[in-house]
Parts: sequence; structure tokens; C-alpha cells
Amino acid sequence: MKKITILDIQRFKNEGRKISMLTAYDCQISRILDGCNVDILLVGDSVGNAVMGLENTLPVTMADMLHHVQAVTRGRKQALVVADMPFMSYQVSIEEARRNAGSLVKDGGAEAVKVEGGENAEDVISALTRIDIPVMGHIGLTPQSIHRMGGYKVQGKEEHQRQRLLADAQAVERAGAFAVVLEGVPASLAREITSTLTIPTIGIGAGPDCDGQVLVINDVLGLSGKFRPKFVKQYVQLEELIKKAVCEYVEEVQSGKFPSDEYSFK
Ligand code: KIV
Repeated sequence: MKKITILDIQRFKNEGRKISMLTAYDCQISRILDGCNVDILLVGDSVGNAVMGLENTLPVTMADMLHHVQAVTRGRKQALVVADMPFMSYQVSIEEARRNAGSLVKDGGAEAVKVEGGENAEDVISALTRIDIPVMGHIGLTPQSIHRMGGYKVQGKEEHQRQRLLADAQAVERAGAFAVVLEGVPASLAREITSTLTIPTIGIGAGPDCDGQVLVINDVLGLSGKFRPKFVKQYVQLEELIKKAVCEYVEEVQSGKFPSDEYSFK
């Protein structure tokens, strides 16, 4: 079992081998995904919606992120762990960005951080890469920009947006990012960005031609309630399985069937 590094992620693109990435927020899911040979575990600030019951990612704090990054790094053996920089942890100053990114690596055990933004994040990305903290970029539908975008809307449909996203992609690569997430963009634009960049692109709602794909694990496992955007493929309906198991448990406790002798000490 070989530990995956950012050099492997670049090699995968060069070899045309697709990259798999999933979010993870706790130790047990991290262990299971790692055992399935997922290349990258992203401790996303989507922890806000997926785990903490928040409406969006904006209230997620550095303390929240550190808590979950530590749990995920304890569970994995080989996957590369990337930690999201939460809203306002990198926007105020380069000094704060460096301190916060450093903490996700030093105290959390992450091997890289992810920063939302294109041309507007170029200085932050290069400041972090200059102190040897690998950075994954994130452009297109960036959830921390929900108020500017007026909601979760596909980006890059209009020509002026398309040109801006092409420039954002170039800026992220120029700043030294080792990979970039393309979220919620037309497949044709993702294809164009992927073919012009040297670094790998990881798509979510960005069609099949990115160098890799990422999804939120709760969506993949059917643990997101009725929330089901078009780009999500649900591979299993865990909510139904959990309900069935828990209802059976409740019924057996109430009827006295559980615990039987098998589950009792002599
Ligand atoms: O926070 C997150 O889960 C993300 C992915 C959707 C890319 O940023």
C-alpha cells in the first residue's frame, strides 16, 4: 500500500488515469473510503451542510474544520487528505491565510488545503505554495460566494463568464496550485479548461472530461434526504437501510427480544 502524494496526482493526469475524490468528515468513513482506494479524501467545508445541519458553508469555522480533519487523517492510510479553508480563514490577510493553512497541516495532519477563487485568490495560493503548503484551487460554482452568485447556479454559461473562468483557471495554475476543482460549469467549458491546463482538474457537476471527479459522500450514500442535484449519482440508499435496522432494534427492545442470551454475559 503506497501513500498517495501530490506528485502521484499529477502523474495520474499525465498517464490519463482518472482521479477519484470523495468528501469525508469522520474517522470511520475515512477508513472505509481509504480501503476502497479513493485517491483523495476532501474534508470539505460542506461539513456545514452535510453534518452540522447548517444552511450553507459560510458559518463553518477553523475549529470545526480542525476537528473533522483530525478525525479523517486518523482513519486513512494511503489517500491524500485535502482540507478546505473555511470562509474568512484566508480572505483577511496573507498572514492569517498562512497561519490557518499551516494549522490544518500541522495540527490537522492534512497534506494540502483547498481555497475557493480564481484570479482573486492568486496571491493567497502563491503565498501558501511558497511556504510549501500544497494548494488545490476551486473555481466555477464556489459555495462561499453564494451571495454574489445569487444562489447555487451553474457558472460559465454566458460568454463573459466563460472568459472569466478560463482566466481563473490560468491564474490558479500560475499561482502554483497542484490541482483545481471545477464545480457547476458546462461540460464543454470543463473540457476546454482541462485540455489547456497542465495541472489536473477535478469536476463536480462539470461533465465527464475532467481529469477526476468528486462528490459529497452523504450524497453518494443516500444520506442527504430529499436533496438531490442533477450531477449527483446516489450509489446506495443508506437512509432506507438505517431506518429498517433502527425500527427493528426499537421493536425488539420494546418486545424484549433483544438482548437474547446470545448478547448477554453468563
Ligand atoms: O466542500 C466541499 O465538499 C467541496 C466539494 C463539493 C468540492 O468543496
